[in-house]
Formats: sequence, C-alpha cells, structure tokens
Amino acid sequence: MGNFMDWLNARLPVTQVWEDHLSKYYAPKNFNFWYFFGSLALLVLVNQLLTGIWLTMSYVPSAEQAFASVEYIMRDVEYGWLIRYMHSTGASFFFVVVYMHMFRGLLYGSYRAPRELVWIFGMAIYLALMAEAFMGYMLPWGQMSYWGAQVIISLFGAIPVIGPDLQQWIRGDFLISGITLNRFFALHVVALPIVILGLVLLHIIALHEVGSNNPDGIEIKKLKDENGIPLDGIPFHPYYTVKDLVGVAVFLFVFCSVMFFFPEMGGYFLEYANFEQADALKTPAHIAPVWYMGAFYSILRAITFDIGPIDSKLGGFIAMGGAIAILFVLPWLDRSPVKSWRYKGIISKVGIALFAVVFIILTWLGTQPATVVYTLIAQICTLFYFAFFLLMPFYTRWEKTKPVPERVTG
Ligand code: HEM
Repeated sequence: MGNFMDWLNARLPVTQVWEDHLSKYYAPKNFNFWYFFGSLALLVLVNQLLTGIWLTMSYVPSAEQAFASVEYIMRDVEYGWLIRYMHSTGASFFFVVVYMHMFRGLLYGSYRAPRELVWIFGMAIYLALMAEAFMGYMLPWGQMSYWGAQVIISLFGAIPVIGPDLQQWIRGDFLISGITLNRFFALHVVALPIVILGLVLLHIIALHEVGSNNPDGIEIKKLKDENGIPLDGIPFHPYYTVKDLVGVAVFLFVFCSVMFFFPEMGGYFLEYANFEQADALKTPAHIAPVWYMGAFYSILRAITFDIGPIDSKLGGFIAMGGAIAILFVLPWLDRSPVKSWRYKGIISKVGIALFAVVFIILTWLGTQPATVVYTLIAQICTLFYFAFFLLMPFYTRWEKTKPVPERVTG
C-alpha cells in the first residue's frame, strides 16, 4: 500500500490534497449549528445530480410526451416515484439549506475581507441555482411549468429596445413551445450542472485559501503555536467530518419525513396546478412561483407605479434585479470594525433579525395572489430590504460595537 501511494503521489497529489483540505486543514473549533449547511449543500447537490441522471433515463423532453413520461416514471418505472420525489423534494431542500447557509454568512460577516470571493462565488452559485430550478420546473410540462415560464420569460420583454427580441430568442419561438422545452432540458441537464459544479469547486478552493470564518468573526490564523498551527483550530478530519455526519443524519430524518409523507408540502413543493398538463389556451386563475423564488417575485410585483420614464413593469424588473445584485456587493457595504453580529451594535442586530422576518414575509407573499393589502405589505417589506443594505455603510460605522475577544469563545 505504501509503495502504491508513493507511486500515485508522484503522479497525482492525492495525499497532498487530502492533507491540505481535510486532515491538515485547520478549522475554528467553535463551529455551531449554522456551520452544518455547507456540507449539507454538498449532500443535496450530489442527490440532485444522481437522481437527475436516473430521471433523465426515463423522461422524454418533448411537448407531446413530457407530461406522460413523468406519469410513467411515477407509476411504471421501478422506484421511479422515489427517484422523482427525491429530486423534487431535493430542489426545495437545496434552497432551504442554501438560505440557511447564506444567512450564516450574514450573521457572522463571513463575506468580509478576506472572504469576498468566497461570497461572490456563492452568489454566482445562487444565481445559477435559481436558473437551474426555473428550467427544471418547466420539464414536467404541467400548467404551472408552462405559465410560470410564460411569466418569467415575459419579464425580459420589459427591457427597453431589445426586450421583445430577447424574449423570442430565449423561447426560440413566438410562444413557449416544445422548442423551449428542449433547450431548457439541455441547459438543466448538461450546461447548468457543469457551471454549478465548477463554481462550487472555486467556492471551496477560495475558502480553503483564506480559511473559514467562525461565529466570533475572529481570524484564527493570527494566533499560531510553535508549529504554525492556529491555537483555535482543529483538523477538519476527523473532527468536522464526524460532526457533519451527525448533521447529515438529522437532516435525512427531516428530508425523508417530507419526501415520504408530504412530497407536495401542501402545494409549496409541488404546486397542485402542475398535476394538469400544460395548455396554451387555458391560463390558470393564479400563477405563482415555487416558494424559493417568492421573495424576489414579491419585490418585482411591489413596483405597481411608474417612476418618471420607467414604467411599472420595467421598474419591477429593475427592483428584482437590484435586490439580487445588492447581495453581490455586500462585502463593501458593511463597514463595521467587527465581523460577527455578536459584537456589532444594536442597529445591526435588530436589522439582521428584521431582515430575516421580512425575507420570510416576502417569500410567503410571493406565493399568494396580489391583493391591495398584500401589495402594500410587500411594498413596505421591499423598502426595508433595500434600506437594510443601502444604509449599511452608515449605521455599521456609527453604531457602538463591543470589544472582540482574542480567542474564540464557546
Ligand atoms: C451549491 C451550493 C453551495 C455549496 C455546496 C456550498 C458549500 C460550502 C462549503 C462546504 C463551505 C464550508 C463549510 C461551511 O462553512 O459551512 C462553504 C462556506 C461558505 N459559503 Fe458556501 N456553498 C454553497 C452556496 C453558497 C452561497 C449561495 C453562498 C452565499 C451567497 C455561500 C457563501 C459561503 C461563505 C461566505 C462561506 C464561508 C463561511 C465561513 O467561513 O463562515 N455559499 N460553502
């Protein structure tokens, strides 16, 4: 075995990579609950790739056969129902996990220097993931697949000058058709998974270059022992590999409970209208995105008025784009002398807590029909969403922070 490893290492840096990223990668010893979601995101990613490959074996990407092929998978393919529910439940859980993972970054300032690139790669993953989910949702060719895609693609029509042409270019047709379905299938099954995998690799390489942050927001590399090992660091393997396995076990209980007993999750994970085949002549009464797009859809709908030369449709599109774009520049909006919310001032603490509440309200509103009252609530929440980020350079500098300890706590 020793000889074989020598032979291998002379040709491929196996031991080197194992040490650099696992057995000699020193992670802060105070990781808490919020640090489970990175490894869980990896787990769900693998689940999506594997179940996706098996679904592709029986799915037929054509307007005539797509819907029936999904029914065939559910009824006739051996364990087809399980593979499909693993994939559809996995899609929603991917977003639950990624939102928790992102919120951890917000709590502990993990986006701050020197981890700006880790955050930016994360945001790129998030964008790619939304595109991946949107295109995947079209594949069953149900009513909501069709009309949801119709709404989202028509948003591009709001862009001045090139809008209508762009819309047609995305569809590949004058209306959403089998041609659109085919290209979405290619992007969902081949192109975007490659992009996501590449980005995840960059995300982790960038993180391991600078090292992980922690709930105290302290740089553990600043205090090292005589061997150059951070005093507050422990080797990722075996300590966190074992700890993460506990997270995986708990996660699988929750995941399996939903998958086996509530795969539709009351219409939030699989919308009821999607059990009916797509019909270009029958618009559903209420077109709603899946829950994980809800917050940004609410922000889009919150702009009900024209702003000067910008009509409400374009305004909504800009607001939605802006709400996502602002997250990319978050590392430069936060000017606090401390990273973690534990040591930030009261405005940041209350702001972050309110932000979580507002995001959940916006998410829920996005799945509901827009009544006058709901629209007003969405507008107030949208205002808060932007104020939280745009005022951050000011309140993070003015507010009084607490002293940060030398060593990690707890
Ligand atoms: C497929 C999706 C993703 C995967 C597989 C993934 C994976 C990981 C892993 C394994 C870690 C190290 C373990 C941990 O700190 O929890 C990590 C850290 C991190 N991720 Fe992600 N990630 C994903 C998406 C995102 C997104 C969408 C963002 C934010 C926009 C993000 C931001 C971060 C940050 C800031 C860290 C460093 C956290 C710290 O050190 O405190 N990630 N990610």
